[in-house]
Amino acid sequence: MSTPHVIDLAVIGGSGLYKFPGLENASRHAVETPYGAASGEVLVGDFAGRRVAFLARHGESHSLPPHRVNYRANLWALHGLGARTVIGVNAVGGIRTDMGPRAIVVPDQLIDYTHGRYTSFCDVEGAEVKHIDFSEPYTAALRHRLLQGARKAGIAVIDGGCYGATQGPRLETRAEIARMKRDGCDLVGMTGMPEAALARELGLDYACLALVANYAAGCGDEDEISIEEIFAHLAAATAEVPRLLEAMLR
Ligand code: HPA
Repeated sequence: MSTPHVIDLAVIGGSGLYKFPGLENASRHAVETPYGAASGEVLVGDFAGRRVAFLARHGESHSLPPHRVNYRANLWALHGLGARTVIGVNAVGGIRTDMGPRAIVVPDQLIDYTHGRYTSFCDVEGAEVKHIDFSEPYTAALRHRLLQGARKAGIAVIDGGCYGATQGPRLETRAEIARMKRDGCDLVGMTGMPEAALARELGLDYACLALVANYAAGCGDEDEISIEEIFAHLAAATAEVPRLLEAMLR
Protein backbone atom coordinates (compact mmCIF):
# COMPACT_ATOMS: atom_id res chain seq x y z
CA MET A 1 0.00 0.00 0.00
CA SER A 2 1.26 3.51 -0.76
CA THR A 3 2.27 5.92 2.00
CA PRO A 4 -0.68 7.24 3.99
CA HIS A 5 -1.70 10.76 3.05
CA VAL A 6 -3.27 13.35 5.21
CA ILE A 7 -6.85 13.11 4.05
CA ASP A 8 -9.33 15.60 5.46
CA LEU A 9 -12.40 13.86 4.10
CA ALA A 10 -13.26 10.70 2.20
CA VAL A 11 -16.44 10.52 0.16
CA ILE A 12 -18.03 7.25 -0.91
CA GLY A 13 -20.21 8.04 -3.90
CA GLY A 14 -23.40 6.08 -4.46
CA SER A 15 -25.64 5.65 -7.49
CA GLY A 16 -25.33 8.75 -9.66
CA LEU A 17 -22.05 9.89 -8.10
CA TYR A 18 -19.27 8.05 -9.93
CA LYS A 19 -16.87 11.00 -10.27
CA PHE A 20 -16.25 13.87 -7.93
CA PRO A 21 -16.60 17.20 -9.79
CA GLY A 22 -14.01 19.74 -8.68
CA LEU A 23 -11.48 17.23 -7.35
CA GLU A 24 -8.17 18.56 -8.71
CA ASN A 25 -4.65 17.13 -9.10
CA ALA A 26 -6.08 13.71 -8.27
CA SER A 27 -3.85 10.67 -7.96
CA ARG A 28 -5.34 7.19 -8.31
CA HIS A 29 -4.73 4.45 -5.77
CA ALA A 30 -5.49 0.79 -6.41
CA VAL A 31 -5.50 -0.63 -2.90
CA GLU A 32 -5.26 -4.33 -2.08
CA THR A 33 -6.70 -5.21 1.28
CA PRO A 34 -6.87 -8.41 3.38
CA TYR A 35 -10.54 -8.48 2.38
CA GLY A 36 -9.97 -8.29 -1.37
CA ALA A 37 -10.26 -5.42 -3.80
CA ALA A 38 -12.16 -2.20 -3.19
CA SER A 39 -14.88 -1.13 -5.63
CA GLY A 40 -12.24 0.63 -7.71
CA GLU A 41 -9.35 3.01 -7.44
CA VAL A 42 -9.47 5.65 -4.76
CA LEU A 43 -8.92 9.16 -6.08
CA VAL A 44 -7.05 11.53 -3.77
CA GLY A 45 -6.94 15.19 -4.73
CA ASP A 46 -7.55 18.80 -3.78
CA PHE A 47 -11.03 20.14 -3.17
CA ALA A 48 -12.07 23.28 -1.32
CA GLY A 49 -8.47 23.75 -0.12
CA ARG A 50 -8.44 20.28 1.49
CA ARG A 51 -7.21 16.79 0.69
CA VAL A 52 -10.22 14.74 -0.32
CA ALA A 53 -10.47 11.06 -1.24
CA PHE A 54 -13.23 9.72 -3.43
CA LEU A 55 -14.38 6.17 -4.09
CA ALA A 56 -17.34 5.15 -6.27
CA ARG A 57 -19.17 2.50 -4.21
CA HIS A 58 -20.58 0.67 -7.22
CA GLY A 59 -17.44 1.11 -9.33
CA GLU A 60 -16.92 3.94 -11.82
CA SER A 61 -19.20 2.23 -14.36
CA HIS A 62 -21.78 1.03 -11.81
CA SER A 63 -20.90 -2.63 -12.22
CA LEU A 64 -21.39 -3.70 -8.58
CA PRO A 65 -24.91 -4.21 -7.20
CA PRO A 66 -25.46 -3.27 -3.52
CA HIS A 67 -25.16 -6.84 -2.20
CA ARG A 68 -21.86 -7.40 -4.03
CA VAL A 69 -20.08 -4.25 -2.93
CA ASN A 70 -17.00 -5.15 -0.90
CA TYR A 71 -17.80 -2.77 1.97
CA ARG A 72 -14.94 -4.09 4.10
CA ALA A 73 -12.34 -3.54 1.39
CA ASN A 74 -13.66 -0.05 0.66
CA LEU A 75 -13.40 1.14 4.26
CA TRP A 76 -10.10 -0.65 4.84
CA ALA A 77 -8.66 1.04 1.73
CA LEU A 78 -9.80 4.52 2.78
CA HIS A 79 -8.50 4.01 6.32
CA GLY A 80 -5.20 2.67 4.97
CA LEU A 81 -4.76 5.74 2.78
CA GLY A 82 -5.11 7.94 5.86
CA ALA A 83 -8.80 8.88 5.92
CA ARG A 84 -10.41 9.25 9.35
CA THR A 85 -13.60 11.03 8.30
CA VAL A 86 -15.97 9.45 5.79
CA ILE A 87 -19.24 10.58 4.26
CA GLY A 88 -21.34 7.96 2.54
CA VAL A 89 -23.56 9.40 -0.17
CA ASN A 90 -26.57 7.10 -0.65
CA ALA A 91 -29.49 7.07 -3.05
CA VAL A 92 -32.70 6.31 -1.16
CA GLY A 93 -36.44 6.04 -1.48
CA GLY A 94 -38.51 8.32 0.74
CA ILE A 95 -41.05 6.80 3.12
CA ARG A 96 -41.93 9.90 5.14
CA THR A 97 -44.16 12.34 3.25
CA ASP A 98 -41.71 15.24 3.55
CA MET A 99 -38.92 13.08 2.10
CA GLY A 100 -40.02 13.18 -1.53
CA PRO A 101 -37.89 13.01 -4.68
CA ARG A 102 -34.82 15.32 -4.62
CA ALA A 103 -34.96 15.82 -0.85
CA ILE A 104 -31.59 15.59 0.89
CA VAL A 105 -31.52 14.00 4.34
CA VAL A 106 -28.85 13.51 7.00
CA PRO A 107 -30.26 10.51 8.88
CA ASP A 108 -29.54 9.92 12.55
CA GLN A 109 -30.69 6.31 12.93
CA LEU A 110 -30.83 3.10 10.95
CA ILE A 111 -32.36 -0.36 10.89
CA ASP A 112 -30.53 -3.13 9.05
CA TYR A 113 -32.64 -5.55 6.98
CA THR A 114 -29.74 -6.80 4.84
CA HIS A 115 -28.50 -10.38 4.95
CA GLY A 116 -25.58 -12.46 3.74
CA ARG A 117 -23.15 -9.54 3.70
CA TYR A 118 -19.84 -9.42 5.53
CA THR A 119 -20.81 -7.17 8.41
CA SER A 120 -17.64 -7.12 10.50
CA PHE A 121 -13.86 -7.14 10.31
CA CYS A 122 -13.96 -9.66 13.18
CA ASP A 123 -15.15 -12.68 11.23
CA VAL A 124 -11.74 -13.76 9.95
CA GLU A 125 -9.64 -16.40 11.71
CA GLY A 126 -7.67 -14.98 14.61
CA ALA A 127 -9.22 -11.50 14.53
CA GLU A 128 -9.90 -9.78 17.82
CA VAL A 129 -13.66 -9.72 18.56
CA LYS A 130 -14.88 -6.15 18.94
CA HIS A 131 -18.36 -5.24 20.16
CA ILE A 132 -18.82 -1.67 19.04
CA ASP A 133 -21.37 0.67 20.60
CA PHE A 134 -23.78 1.46 17.78
CA SER A 135 -26.58 3.22 19.69
CA GLU A 136 -25.87 6.26 17.54
CA PRO A 137 -24.78 4.81 14.20
CA TYR A 138 -23.60 8.13 12.74
CA THR A 139 -21.01 10.51 14.19
CA ALA A 140 -22.94 13.45 15.67
CA ALA A 141 -20.21 16.04 15.06
CA LEU A 142 -19.90 15.06 11.40
CA ARG A 143 -23.67 15.17 10.94
CA HIS A 144 -23.61 18.70 12.34
CA ARG A 145 -20.81 19.72 10.00
CA LEU A 146 -22.89 18.47 7.05
CA LEU A 147 -25.98 20.33 8.25
CA GLN A 148 -23.97 23.52 8.78
CA GLY A 149 -22.41 23.17 5.32
CA ALA A 150 -25.87 22.86 3.79
CA ARG A 151 -27.05 25.93 5.68
CA LYS A 152 -24.01 27.94 4.52
CA ALA A 153 -24.58 26.83 0.92
CA GLY A 154 -28.33 27.59 1.11
CA ILE A 155 -29.24 23.96 0.36
CA ALA A 156 -32.35 22.59 2.08
CA VAL A 157 -31.49 19.48 4.06
CA ILE A 158 -33.64 17.48 6.49
CA ASP A 159 -31.98 16.88 9.86
CA GLY A 160 -32.57 13.33 11.10
CA GLY A 161 -34.53 10.31 10.05
CA CYS A 162 -34.23 6.55 10.21
CA TYR A 163 -32.54 4.81 7.27
CA GLY A 164 -33.79 1.26 6.60
CA ALA A 165 -31.13 -0.75 4.77
CA THR A 166 -32.56 -3.41 2.43
CA GLN A 167 -30.83 -6.11 0.46
CA GLY A 168 -31.70 -5.07 -3.10
CA PRO A 169 -31.01 -4.98 -5.91
CA ARG A 170 -34.77 -5.12 -6.43
CA LEU A 171 -36.95 -2.39 -4.99
CA GLU A 172 -39.29 -3.32 -2.13
CA THR A 173 -42.91 -4.47 -2.14
CA ARG A 174 -45.60 -2.17 -0.73
CA ALA A 175 -46.00 -4.59 2.18
CA GLU A 176 -42.29 -4.47 2.95
CA ILE A 177 -42.36 -0.68 2.96
CA ALA A 178 -45.52 -0.67 5.11
CA ARG A 179 -43.69 -2.87 7.60
CA MET A 180 -40.63 -0.63 7.52
CA LYS A 181 -42.86 2.38 8.16
CA ARG A 182 -44.36 0.62 11.19
CA ASP A 183 -40.83 -0.13 12.33
CA GLY A 184 -40.04 3.59 12.23
CA CYS A 185 -38.07 3.87 8.99
CA ASP A 186 -38.24 7.19 7.14
CA LEU A 187 -35.99 6.25 4.24
CA VAL A 188 -35.04 3.07 2.43
CA GLY A 189 -31.77 2.33 0.68
CA MET A 190 -29.61 -0.65 -0.21
CA THR A 191 -26.10 0.46 0.70
CA GLY A 192 -26.19 2.08 4.14
CA MET A 193 -25.22 -1.15 5.86
CA PRO A 194 -22.82 -2.69 6.70
CA GLU A 195 -20.87 0.43 5.68
CA ALA A 196 -21.78 2.44 8.79
CA ALA A 197 -20.95 -0.40 11.21
CA LEU A 198 -17.64 -1.19 9.52
CA ALA A 199 -16.68 2.48 9.71
CA ARG A 200 -17.35 2.38 13.45
CA GLU A 201 -15.25 -0.77 13.85
CA LEU A 202 -12.32 1.08 12.28
CA GLY A 203 -12.90 4.11 14.52
CA LEU A 204 -13.79 6.34 11.57
CA ASP A 205 -16.10 9.33 11.86
CA TYR A 206 -18.94 8.49 9.52
CA ALA A 207 -22.16 10.16 8.37
CA CYS A 208 -24.66 9.52 5.62
CA LEU A 209 -25.89 12.02 3.07
CA ALA A 210 -29.07 10.48 1.69
CA LEU A 211 -30.42 11.68 -1.66
CA VAL A 212 -34.06 10.85 -2.25
CA ALA A 213 -34.65 9.50 -5.76
CA ASN A 214 -38.29 8.42 -5.45
CA TYR A 215 -41.10 7.75 -3.02
CA ALA A 216 -40.72 4.19 -1.76
CA ALA A 217 -43.28 1.59 -2.88
CA GLY A 218 -46.81 2.66 -1.95
CA CYS A 219 -45.70 6.05 -0.54
CA GLY A 220 -46.24 8.23 -3.63
CA ASP A 221 -49.09 8.69 -6.11
CA GLU A 222 -47.69 6.39 -8.78
CA ASP A 223 -48.60 2.69 -9.00
CA GLU A 224 -45.10 1.84 -10.20
CA ILE A 225 -41.68 3.33 -9.64
CA SER A 226 -39.98 4.44 -12.84
CA ILE A 227 -36.25 3.76 -12.95
CA GLU A 228 -35.79 6.64 -15.45
CA GLU A 229 -37.40 9.04 -12.97
CA ILE A 230 -35.22 7.69 -10.18
CA PHE A 231 -32.10 8.57 -12.14
CA ALA A 232 -33.42 12.01 -13.15
CA HIS A 233 -34.23 12.96 -9.54
CA LEU A 234 -30.96 11.49 -8.38
CA ALA A 235 -29.00 13.56 -10.90
CA ALA A 236 -30.70 16.73 -9.60
CA ALA A 237 -29.96 15.94 -5.94
CA THR A 238 -26.41 14.77 -6.72
CA ALA A 239 -25.63 18.08 -8.43
CA GLU A 240 -25.91 19.78 -5.00
CA VAL A 241 -23.40 17.51 -3.28
CA PRO A 242 -20.08 19.16 -4.26
CA ARG A 243 -21.40 22.63 -3.30
CA LEU A 244 -22.61 21.31 0.04
CA LEU A 245 -19.31 19.59 0.79
CA GLU A 246 -17.34 22.64 -0.32
CA ALA A 247 -19.28 24.81 2.14
CA MET A 248 -18.69 22.20 4.84
CA LEU A 249 -14.93 22.11 4.24
CA ARG A 250 -14.24 25.85 3.88
N1 HPA B 1 -35.67 1.41 -2.27
C1 HPA B 1 -34.41 1.04 -1.98
N2 HPA B 1 -33.35 1.71 -2.42
C2 HPA B 1 -33.54 2.79 -3.16
C3 HPA B 1 -34.82 3.23 -3.50
C4 HPA B 1 -35.95 2.51 -3.02
O1 HPA B 1 -37.12 2.84 -3.28
N3 HPA B 1 -34.67 4.34 -4.29
C5 HPA B 1 -33.33 4.56 -4.38
N4 HPA B 1 -32.65 3.62 -3.72
